[in-house]
Amino acid sequence: MIPLVKPYLPPREELLPELEAILYSGYIAEGQPVYDFENLFGEYLDNQNVLALHSGTDALHIALLLANVGIGDEVISTPMTAEPTNVAITMVGGKVVWGDVDPDTGLLCPKSVRSLITEKTKAIILVHYAGMVCDMNEFNKISEEFNIPIIEDAAHALGSKYKGKRVGSNSAYTIFSLQAIKHMTTVDGGFLSFNKADQIGRARRMRWFGLDKGKPRLENDIVETGYKYAMNNVNATIGLVQMKHLETIVGKYIDNGKFFDEQLKNTNGVQLIKYSEDTEPSYWLYTMMVERREDFIKHMEAHGISASPLHYRNDLHSIFKESKRDLPGLDDFYSKMVHIPCGWWLTNEDREHMVETIKKGW
Ligand SMILES: Cc1ncc(COP(=O)(O)O)c(C=O)c1O
Repeated sequence: MIPLVKPYLPPREELLPELEAILYSGYIAEGQPVYDFENLFGEYLDNQNVLALHSGTDALHIALLLANVGIGDEVISTPMTAEPTNVAITMVGGKVVWGDVDPDTGLLCPKSVRSLITEKTKAIILVHYAGMVCDMNEFNKISEEFNIPIIEDAAHALGSKYKGKRVGSNSAYTIFSLQAIKHMTTVDGGFLSFNKADQIGRARRMRWFGLDKGKPRLENDIVETGYKYAMNNVNATIGLVQMKHLETIVGKYIDNGKFFDEQLKNTNGVQLIKYSEDTEPSYWLYTMMVERREDFIKHMEAHGISASPLHYRNDLHSIFKESKRDLPGLDDFYSKMVHIPCGWWLTNEDREHMVETIKKGW
């Protein structure tokens, strides 16, 4: 069966000597490899205002705290995502306000978001779902007009672009995940990037109990709560080796995604996504809408190809029952959307077999 997701790890002869060296170096907590990884990741994003963390969820939590979201404050977000996006809002006592999605993309709809802004709105979380980028032209306008910070959840969107530049330096905050099945994994890990440098010192203290690593421990004074969110040298070492492969690996997702965009045009029963203006997806999963989805999934599986909607619409979880509202765009998208594999593990034969299988009909 061609899997929907699969972790990429560098060849063992490259990775294992580096891992062995760090494991027995006597320094496995946060140290130089973490800072080297931050530099390389910053180069990749063309933005050095980045912070390595233990997970993407940690990055969301810190971003929400820095955006001053507190108890009872509203955060507009999307139900079409993995749960951490929205569970993070509850970590700071914030109230989730569901924006509806555009039924043609599954991405948060700017018009819906605009209509939901109140004086209690402290942040907007945009999810570049499955590697597709939200309508940043419109969201930038909204953020500026209402002076509300945007947190871009780019957990699925490493390597995707807005106006020709990699996602990660447009909004006040962008988060990335390096969890097992993402474009790049360090087993677990995350990044928080900023479009300005002014909050990075505070964020750095927040990742380590509120302590300033630049000062001796006995001269430190904690002034606000911090967490144990630092990346360690072992995860960072994996990341440093992964960085050598990142462009090639992400390039494969993109190449496969473009292949499907081209080959599946005008296919009976398939509706392709209309990507937002000025954006280039990094196709973590290939997303489309199909007629009779359950039959489509069975047909694909019978031909050895995984296909699935993958994520449960978050508004159906009991923890979010107070946020419940009508979401007709989501109802429409969620009933038809499906993902098929798009990653580095597809061979040319695999992707041709996938297209043929879809074109045969179900
Ligand atoms: C959209 C989205 N946001 C945030 C996260 C959280 O990332 P992590 O698992 O690294 O905490 C994930 C992944 O699990 C995700 O898919």
